[in-house]
Formats: sequence, structure tokens, C-alpha cells
Amino acid sequence: MVTSAHASEVQAGAVLEIDLEALAANYEILKQRAAPAECAAVVKADAYGLGAERVGPVLAAAGCETFFVAHLSEAIALRRALGVKASIYVLNGILPGMEDDFTAHDLRPVLNTLEQLDLWPGPAALHLDTGMNRLGLSPEDVAALAAAPERLRHVDLRCIISHLACADQADHAMNDEQRQLFDRLRAKLPGKPASLANSSGIFLGPDYHHDLVRPGVALYGANPTPGAANPMREVVRLKGRIIQVREIDTPQSVGYGATHRATGPRRIATVPVGYADGYLRSLSGQGVGCLAGVSVPIVGRVSMDLITLDVTEVPGDAVHVGALVELIGGGGPTLDEIAEKAGTIGYEILTSLGRRYQRQYLKAGKQPR
Ligand SMILES: Cc1ncc(COP(=O)(O)O)c(C=O)c1O
Repeated sequence: MVTSAHASEVQAGAVLEIDLEALAANYEILKQRAAPAECAAVVKADAYGLGAERVGPVLAAAGCETFFVAHLSEAIALRRALGVKASIYVLNGILPGMEDDFTAHDLRPVLNTLEQLDLWPGPAALHLDTGMNRLGLSPEDVAALAAAPERLRHVDLRCIISHLACADQADHAMNDEQRQLFDRLRAKLPGKPASLANSSGIFLGPDYHHDLVRPGVALYGANPTPGAANPMREVVRLKGRIIQVREIDTPQSVGYGATHRATGPRRIATVPVGYADGYLRSLSGQGVGCLAGVSVPIVGRVSMDLITLDVTEVPGDAVHVGALVELIGGGGPTLDEIAEKAGTIGYEILTSLGRRYQRQYLKAGKQPR
């Protein structure tokens, strides 16, 4: 039985490193880029899977004063982690019956409808829909509001926001269209600080910065400028432990469905990471890891708890039970590369990261804890 302090490390099938120093550095990069606009942080979905209760305080220490989450429950948990100072906005807005919780935890709804505007008398943001057709006041709602300005009188409006649909495509016509519509709609309402840009929006230039920017995914290391070099630092590294090595030869197959067939003598390493851990099944026969500096492809299907990698090209002594294969970051594929191989986006890879990994939060100048 393993009884040492490192028991969980030895027992874990995979280690997920979350580099809090890189996170803080990313906040600084975005803040500098957006200055003089204020830089908020979007920490919904448990800080994109990385743990809002760890990520939030690090961002606050880096100077972040304004946070956005999606749900009221996330906001209540974040308030506990951050203490009283930070402003916390709830993007999904406020529904009847939630008012007491918003008041008790000093939270601010992002008001998405005229009904929500009538419901809430406290500090809030107002969301104008400029093209997502998801949340926020339509241009018709804004016209109705402009015609009845008394509806705004009781609300303590701190900010007017909108959200870009195509910010990750810098030359997409919709960016400029949404920006112009946002400016036109805002002109009908009382002057308030404005916020439009997400991570990629920050890199569209100062016209998109307004008074407050709202990055999420770039804080966590994904590239906000697809097609160009990633200006962000790597925050997430996933390493899976080899638990078995076997030799196969023609005509043997690997995994469910026998989708991978050996065409000669091969070495297969089995690593206990599967789709139950957020290592997406679409990475079957597509994903890649790195062992001792050598790229090792996933062969066969990703199963619930296991993947199989062809390690034939890796020098023999590096392939052994206990060796760690880099699956995301480190020498392995970047977050964006693995997302592409899975046919998805970095957001989904991050927010799917499993609960069975041993999570190590790396702090500036300190050993992992
Ligand atoms: C309204 C709103 N603002 C900001 C963000 C942050 O976006 P990103 O993670 O692309 O920076 C999101 C995320 O989806 C959002 O929904």
C-alpha cells in the first residue's frame, strides 16, 4: 500500500499541471494590450475547467477587479473565494426569485431583457444583442427603452456590453458590423462604460477595447489569434502515466472495434486516460502524445478509461511502466493542436478536463502543490 505524502501522485493515472504563474502573466499581457481599458476576467464554467476558486484569487492578485461568470451559483462560490472587493457579474442574468441571492452576495446581473431591467434595482450591466441572437436586448428593445427612459431610472447601470460572434476571424465582416451597431445602440441610451471584446476581440485593435475587455480562453493559454503565433503562455499541461507496455505483430489489432491493425512488429503503451476524463473519443486514431521527445500517435479507439499509443519509435529505455507521456502541452501537442485533432476548440478541451487527474497548481517560484 502507498502511504507516503505522494500517494495521490503515484496512484494518479495522469497529472494535470495548472501553471498559475503563466495565468497571471497572461492576465498582464491582455491588460497591457487593452490599456487604458480595464481588463476583466471571464471565469465561468469553473474558470474553463481549471478551478475558479484557485484561478480567481490569482487573477485578483494580478490586479483584476471585475469577474464574469455564467450562473448565479458560480458567482456565489466565487464571492466566497474572492472576498468582498471584486465586482462579480452573472452573464445569464436574473430571473424572478433570485433577487435576494444577488443582494446577499453583492452580485451584479447582466440584464438581458426588458423584464430583467424592471426586476432589478441594484448595480448591473445591460447586454445589447448585436448579432448573436442568444442573450441581450434586441435593437427593437433598445428603441423601446430609448422611448421610455424612465424604465432605466431605478437601475444602477454600471456597464453596457455586447458580444462578438466572429472575433477569432480577424477579417470577418461581422466584427465591424457588430462594433458599429453596438455604438449606434449605445448612443440611444445614457452614456455608460462599454464592453465588447472577448479574448480575440482584444487583438482586433483599440476600436474594440471600449472601457472594459472580457477575456476568458486566452487567460488559460489558448491562442486568441488563430493562424498567427500564440501570444499567450501555456497554462495547462497533461501527462499520462504508462501502466502497461506490450509488443504486437501482424495481424493483431488494438482496442474496441479493432480499428487499428498492426502491419508489423509494434510496441503499444497503455495510459489510463479516456473519454471519461475528457480525452475526447474523437481523438481515436487522431490524437498524439510525446514521450522522450518523440511524437507518439494514439492508435485504436479512445475508451472510457484508457488510450493506447504506438511507442515503437521511442528509445527502449524511455518506454516503461510509470513513464509519463505528454498529452497536452510540455513537449506534446498544444491545447489548440489537440483541439484541432479532436475536431473541436480549445474551450471544449479545457472545460472537459477530467476530475480523476491529479491536479497540481504551480505557483511562481514554488514547487507544485
Ligand atoms: C458574454 C461573454 N463575454 C466574454 C466571454 C469570453 O470569451 P473568450 O473565452 O473567447 O475570451 C464569453 C465566453 O464565451 C462570453 O460569453
